Amino acid sequence: MTLQFQPDMQVKPDVAAFFDPQTNTISYVVKDPASNSCAIVDSVLDIDYAAGRLSYDSADKIIEHVKANGLTVEWIIETHVHADHLSAAPYLQEKLGGKIGIGDQITIVQDTFGKVFNEGTEFQRDGSQFDRLFADGDTYQVGSMTAHVMATPGHTPACQTHVIGDAAFVGDTLFMPDGGSARADFPGGDAGVLYDSIQRVLALPDTTRLFMCHDYGPNGRDIKWETTVADEKAHNIHVGGGKSRDAFVAMRTARDETLDMPKLILPSLQVNMRAGDVPTDKDGNPMLKVPLNKL
Ligand SMILES: [Fe+2]
Repeated sequence: MTLQFQPDMQVKPDVAAFFDPQTNTISYVVKDPASNSCAIVDSVLDIDYAAGRLSYDSADKIIEHVKANGLTVEWIIETHVHADHLSAAPYLQEKLGGKIGIGDQITIVQDTFGKVFNEGTEFQRDGSQFDRLFADGDTYQVGSMTAHVMATPGHTPACQTHVIGDAAFVGDTLFMPDGGSARADFPGGDAGVLYDSIQRVLALPDTTRLFMCHDYGPNGRDIKWETTVADEKAHNIHVGGGKSRDAFVAMRTARDETLDMPKLILPSLQVNMRAGDVPTDKDGNPMLKVPLNKL
């Protein structure tokens, strides 16, 4: 696997991590060392699903950090349409500015789940809810840093890895070495495609810092979110040591059959496929649906 771009390993962004214990999600503020510019990656909007109540503690922690450090938010990035937590992108954008970006394959996700939720024609399936749709190979600036976008589908069709200097934000393409990889059985997921995407990430330089979107602290260890390409190549329990594509697909498929749906998949998809906007009923009230027997 050869890379389509040259990572600039001399650029070392300052990365601040924010762990949400409710959903085991890690959000990041990625700062340009040469300016006050930053990007926010994979934010979290808190929900008490049983009560139907939203709150903003996780997002407010990020806002506090941005303000305390005098940062300018240029981008609010989603590595994919998350199925286990809601995005706080619109809330952050209102308070801090910045453009909301996601992969251009979002249109496939919107088409699939537009049907699941029986959305009307007012729900656009063209990705227009987002400020920017990234194609594979696209670049964008965070201050003086150039970010490179790599399509890494498999967990979902719209998954991407964002490479900024020596740091890569892999979304759910990989977990920490002892966590392996994310499931590939959601509609539009594909274990073989995920394997190929993981190889793209592992083709980055060995010392690339990899930042996970999730960690569940397997075997009782403390939560971690940062590793390296070299560490994943050597030790990842699902793909490390040169595991073959066939072996990975067999393992992943068998394992996915045992997994329950994430607790927050229904609210997450309805909100995240709208770039974090909450849907409304015909009278304009914020309202979520529970489609029966669809997932
Ligand atoms: Fe995910």
